[in-house]
Amino acid sequence: MRTALVTGAGGFIGHHMVKYLKANGYRVRAVDLKRPEYEPSDADEFEELDLRNEENCLRATGDVNEVYQLAADMGGIGYITANHADIARNNVLINAHMLESASRNGVERFFFSSSACIYPMYRQHDPDVTPLKEKDAYPAEPEEGYGWEKLYAEKLCEYYDEEGKLRTRVARFHNIYGPLGTYDGGREKAPAAICRKVAVAGDGDEIEIWGDGQQTRSFTYVDDCVEGIHRVMRSDVSEPLNLGSDRLISVDGLVDIVSTIAGKTLVKRFDTSKPQGVRGRNSDNARCREVLGWEPSTTLEDGLTATYRWIEAQVERARSAAPMAEVAS
Ligand SMILES: NC(=O)c1ccc[n+]([C@@H]2O[C@H](COP(=O)([O-])OP(=O)(O)OC[C@H]3O[C@@H](n4cnc5c(N)ncnc54)[C@H](O)[C@@H]3O)[C@@H](O)[C@H]2O)c1
Repeated sequence: MRTALVTGAGGFIGHHMVKYLKANGYRVRAVDLKRPEYEPSDADEFEELDLRNEENCLRATGDVNEVYQLAADMGGIGYITANHADIARNNVLINAHMLESASRNGVERFFFSSSACIYPMYRQHDPDVTPLKEKDAYPAEPEEGYGWEKLYAEKLCEYYDEEGKLRTRVARFHNIYGPLGTYDGGREKAPAAICRKVAVAGDGDEIEIWGDGQQTRSFTYVDDCVEGIHRVMRSDVSEPLNLGSDRLISVDGLVDIVSTIAGKTLVKRFDTSKPQGVRGRNSDNARCREVLGWEPSTTLEDGLTATYRWIEAQVERARSAAPMAEVAS
């Protein structure tokens, strides 16, 4: 039986990754600072460890064939804009110790979760952006803090692989969304935040949207993400690959889809004082199709329906347990 370690297994993608690997016959060890918030983990063992500490990384990576490194200090645009020092320091420590520990423990394959935030700012000034190819990463000008530490960790993976210390695989995720993801508290991403705001609002109410709504992105459903991770892990490709949908949509358009799913007509109030990140970003999937013979295929409408229904149920549950003001904040 194949054995895998999933780090960040108390978080959104890590929790789904554990489910995917269990469904595919793996024995799974899960590690995180915390357990999953919304349902128990499927993992065979779950250890609460701080992976900024090298001893903990050595313990976590012992006796496993594969490592899926999904632990990171991260959040939505508000969080990553306000916490450059903590994010950069914490994640550099986690990734450096995880790579070295996996190498020393003889792990066969190591997956690292990079991000579209590594792409240069100078290529993302236009909402009608040209999709980003993997080679567009250089010359580098990534997102401050989070983007720089991801790009540096990609390089660390490359060096470990080149020198035969550890076989590494890397994917750059483009805005992953889906059920069981953080939807409130300040670390949530745009799709979850929009679903929450729409779920809380009554028909005809006003909702606040960060930015002018014209900023564009592509959004990737979490089931496609975990399948893609597994395909990247099995592939022969050690250089980073995009893992994302290539359907470009504005945040305004995203709100319209969610409102339609909810069956609500809402008034949008755009707040341009809030952070909105780069103007436009999309994934070029040519390389992914070429080397994996596959690309994400869940439609935004299907993925957002599942996500909205789940968040709506959470909001209803919270509403019946707490005063309205707390749910809406
Ligand atoms: N969700 C996205 O859209 C997206 C996009 C690009 C890249 N990524 C990357 O994918 C990975 C997973 O992201 P996610 O969306 O599931 O985020 P998440 O915040 O839900 O999960 C990350 C998990 O890492 C854990 N963690 C943080 N510091 C830790 C530490 N010191 N020791 C142990 N665990 C620690 C957190 O507790 C959390 O549960 C991360 O590397 C992230 O940077 C995500």
